[in-house]
Amino acid sequence: MKREGFGSKFGVLAAAAGSAIGLGNIWKFPYIAGENGGAAFIFLYLFFILLLGVPLMVSELVIGRKGQSNVVRAFKKLAPNTKWHYTGILGVSTAFILFSFYSAVAGWIFAYVSRSISGDLISISPDKLGSYFNGIISSNIEPLIWQFIVIAFTAFIVIAGIKKGVEKYSKILMPVLFGLLVILAVRSVTLEGASKGIEFLFKPDFASLTGKGILEALGHAFFSLSLGMGTLVTYGSYINKKENLQTMALQITMADTLIALIAGLVIFPAVFAYGFQPDQGPELIFITLPAVFKEMPLGGIFQSLFFVLVGIAALTSTISLLEIIVSYFTEEYKISRKKVTIIVSFIIFLLGIPNTLSFGILENVKLFDKTIFDLFNFSVSNVMLPLGGLLIALFVGKVWGTKNAINEATNDGKIDFPLAKGYTIIIKYIAPVAIIIILLYSTGIL
Ligand code: PFF
Repeated sequence: MKREGFGSKFGVLAAAAGSAIGLGNIWKFPYIAGENGGAAFIFLYLFFILLLGVPLMVSELVIGRKGQSNVVRAFKKLAPNTKWHYTGILGVSTAFILFSFYSAVAGWIFAYVSRSISGDLISISPDKLGSYFNGIISSNIEPLIWQFIVIAFTAFIVIAGIKKGVEKYSKILMPVLFGLLVILAVRSVTLEGASKGIEFLFKPDFASLTGKGILEALGHAFFSLSLGMGTLVTYGSYINKKENLQTMALQITMADTLIALIAGLVIFPAVFAYGFQPDQGPELIFITLPAVFKEMPLGGIFQSLFFVLVGIAALTSTISLLEIIVSYFTEEYKISRKKVTIIVSFIIFLLGIPNTLSFGILENVKLFDKTIFDLFNFSVSNVMLPLGGLLIALFVGKVWGTKNAINEATNDGKIDFPLAKGYTIIIKYIAPVAIIIILLYSTGIL
């Protein structure tokens, strides 16, 4: 069977950027930056993106394009008769867990889409937004229905093979989202009392960084760029041999980072202007954004459009999550794409239920002192992705070899790799050492 490839350079770029840009940028980045004191955390996050994110992204893309198969088989092909393909199995498992809580949050976005279109949301006064949002997510039926819709939508797109269509529309819609974010940022920074929020974003106090904060900055760099679980290995396998993977990695990283920073510029000035708490956790954007829209002319319309676009950004990420899993099971076990997609989606929905109910009847069910949602969210970003990133760096640095990686990144020597030396040093030494130190430090072992 011939592997389906991406039709155009733009298709791949849109799909990979679509995977990267999602709730991580608009929902998660602001709230964890808020929990970790703002600027110092953000600088560290940017540092990890540049130092580790870009080289690891190049690594995943080259493994995928060289391996020409799903994430597990790619490792088997490049290192036959070894156990390295367990890195791929870790990636597929991470996708299950990530999707199960990510779909809960995407469901909240869908709930907000329906409430902004109905005109309900715009009528809520800022001081009531917290209880309004909590009323939605703590109910035991509605959020599950939205979560189901998110998963079903994703499955439908993956089965129908209309990803190309989605990419085509994303090409238009993501710049619109970007434009809207910029408009919102302007509104937010000109609110009275906004300057404290800007300070919070840009004036670092490095003494405030904790071990946990350092780990979260690292984990979120991976989460936001969709790294450490083979998503970009999978997408890399669909990329044409002529494309320049280095520029592609840079472009995806820049777009992703820019969107996160602008989201920060929307949220924090408003947080301070309205007297919200920056460290209130996952509900942060759901309370802050509607308050900003309320202050804008045509706010109701902008608000509906905005949540629709964020919903689409979330879907282009969930598509990539499902794709890693589906490509693995279809290729390795020769089961039809449709069957795998339906079964996997069902399992993810089952796994998703306790995540969603963590805000309702399961609120008091705690493991390791965390609700199920917090535990899943924490394990993915702060354990599984850094571990996956570490394994990928070790694999390229010590097993497959950076020479082979560079050869693939230069299309067999046809294009330049100006930073090849730096890439080698980072992948061989800096990335493994940094990730191990951070993991040990944050768990208190070091
Ligand atoms: N990068 C996505 C975001 O920031 O929302 C989350 C994600 C999607 C992570 C797909 C990993 C992945 F495979």
